[in-house]
Amino acid sequence: MLNNHGFDLWSDSYDDSVRHLDTKNQYPFAGYTNLMNAIYGTIMKQAPAKILDIGFGTALLTSKLYDAENTITSLDFSSEMLKIALSKMPAANLLQWNFNLGIPPALKGHLFDFIISTYALHHLTDCVKIDFIAALLNLLEPQGKILIGDVCFLSRNDLRLP
Ligand SMILES: C[S@@+](CC[C@H](N)C(=O)[O-])C[C@H]1O[C@@H](n2cnc3c(N)ncnc32)[C@H](O)[C@@H]1O
Repeated sequence: MLNNHGFDLWSDSYDDSVRHLDTKNQYPFAGYTNLMNAIYGTIMKQAPAKILDIGFGTALLTSKLYDAENTITSLDFSSEMLKIALSKMPAANLLQWNFNLGIPPALKGHLFDFIISTYALHHLTDCVKIDFIAALLNLLEPQGKILIGDVCFLSRNDLRLP
C-alpha cells in the first residue's frame, strides 16, 4: 500500500491512470466512471448537500459536486493531492489528515448529508475500517447517507490472486 509520499508522487499522473484503466476495464479502476456517475446522481437528487469526502485525491468526483453548488469538506493525507484539489475547489474545506488516526478533531460537531469515499478505504485493515465507519455514523445528519465505492473481492482467496 502507498503511503502519503507515494500518493504525492502519483498525484500528477493520477487522472491519466484512472482514465487509462477505466477505458481498458482494468483493475483497480474498471467501472470508475459508472461508479462516480452513480454517486453523483444519488447526491444531486438532494442537492445542495453538505458532503464529506474521505480520500479526495485529485477531486475528480468532488470537484463536480463542488461546481454543482454542494458544500464540500474533504480529507486526504497527501499534500500534493491536496494542492490539486484546492486548485479545483478553492472554497472547499480541505483537511490534510491520515484517516488511520480516525476522525480529525476539526470535524467535531459537524454533520453531513452525505459522506463519500471512493477507492480509499481499502487502505485500512478490516478492523480499523469497521471502527472508522462506525465513527463516521456520528457525523451524519438524521437522514444522512454514507456512500462507499471501492475495489472488492468475493473472497479472501480472490484478493490474494495476482
Ligand atoms: C486511489 S486515490 C482515490 C482518490 C479519489 N477518491 C478517487 O476516487 O479518484 C486514494 C486517495 O486516498 C488517499 N489516502 C490513502 N490512504 C489514506 C489515509 N490513510 N489517510 C488519508 N488519505 C489517504 C490518497 O492520498 C489518495 O488521494
